[in-house]
Amino acid sequence: MHIMRKSLLVYLSISFVLVDAFEPVTTTVIVGATGFLYPLGKKIYNYFRETCNDDWIGFNTTGLEKDLERKLFGQHIASRVVLKGVTGFMNNKSPKKPLVLSLHGSTGTGKNFVSQLIADNIYKKGMTSNYVHLFTSTAHFPHPSQIDTYKVQLQQWIKGNVSSCPRSLFIFDEMDKMPLGLIDSIKPYLDYYDNLEGVSYRHAIFIFLSNAGGQNISQVALDFWLKGKDREEIQLKDLEAALSLEVFNNKNSGFWHTSLIDKNLVDFFIPFLPLERRHIRACALAEMAAQGLPLDEEIAGRVADEMIYSPKAERVFASKGCKTTRSKLDYYT
Ligand SMILES: *[C@@H]1O[C@H](CO)[C@@H](O)[C@H](O)[C@H]1NC(C)=O
Ligand SMILES: *[C@@H]1O[C@H](CO)[C@@H](O)[C@H](O)[C@H]1NC(C)=O
Ligand SMILES: *[C@@H]1O[C@H](CO)[C@@H](O)[C@H](O)[C@H]1NC(C)=O
Repeated sequence: MHIMRKSLLVYLSISFVLVDAFEPVTTTVIVGATGFLYPLGKKIYNYFRETCNDDWIGFNTTGLEKDLERKLFGQHIASRVVLKGVTGFMNNKSPKKPLVLSLHGSTGTGKNFVSQLIADNIYKKGMTSNYVHLFTSTAHFPHPSQIDTYKVQLQQWIKGNVSSCPRSLFIFDEMDKMPLGLIDSIKPYLDYYDNLEGVSYRHAIFIFLSNAGGQNISQVALDFWLKGKDREEIQLKDLEAALSLEVFNNKNSGFWHTSLIDKNLVDFFIPFLPLERRHIRACALAEMAAQGLPLDEEIAGRVADEMIYSPKAERVFASKGCKTTRSKLDYYT
């Protein structure tokens, strides 16, 4: 993009030089024209270069609603809570604190995918936006012994990024693998402060992704299934208490005894249910559609058949969720 701006300037200066060599009248005309061209050039430049304003950041409620409805499978609770939470926050002109979502569930149930849908419907550039920051514990914070360095670094990153754009989105993947205590270092940013050292964090969004609590969620889902009840009858309250207790008490959750939970800084704990065979089929079909392939029910069925289901006796829930759907599909097409 810099190259583009440069060439525009070079072009403008060349036209100056050329015209200067000729008659004064034309020069005036051209100077007038550049006076008009420069703002235009700047506009074009800004048109391509992402900036922290309404041209690039906005919220599409219907977009998020439609995406959750059409692209996410088997998550009636998560889609409702996410839509409500994000919409309420984005429509609030002066929120009292940043939005903090904690997404829980086993592998492949759609936690990463939902974060992506949120990013897609807030930032024009979605996950590739300069204002969306993804931290993966195993990649960014691999060594528990370096926790003090990580703490300082993480605080600087968040502060730096929110200073340059208040509407920043931070996604922390693999919370369960994050060094104990690291997350406490960002607590001040999640709190109800008007500002900290001149920076307000109230328009930022933090999303934590974790497998913690996944087993407890699966247990509730299995109980419903064993009683012959419809999965859609599972309500948030059936899961919430077990979930926040589990996240709080489980040493491996990354949240362990953290003051985030103590002080209710997490706005929504969002459970992702384990996926059944029909959801895997739906994922396979959606993947075909995304790749522009003809929809083939038979192949979708075969992909679903190949998955491993648990628990051993009932074989109801796909152990890896929709995670390996794509590679399995590649094999058949
Ligand atoms: C919002 O999302 C809807 C549905 O995906 C889409 O049709 C519409 O163009 C989007 N609006 C904006 C302003 O991007
Ligand atoms: C913003 O965060 C990224 C990590 O996503 C980091 O590399 C960068 O240095 C941060 N920017 C500032 C200005 O702190
Ligand atoms: C969550 O599940 C684990 C493992 O199945 C179990 O030990 C624990 O008691 C459960 N926690 C809650 C709060 O239900």
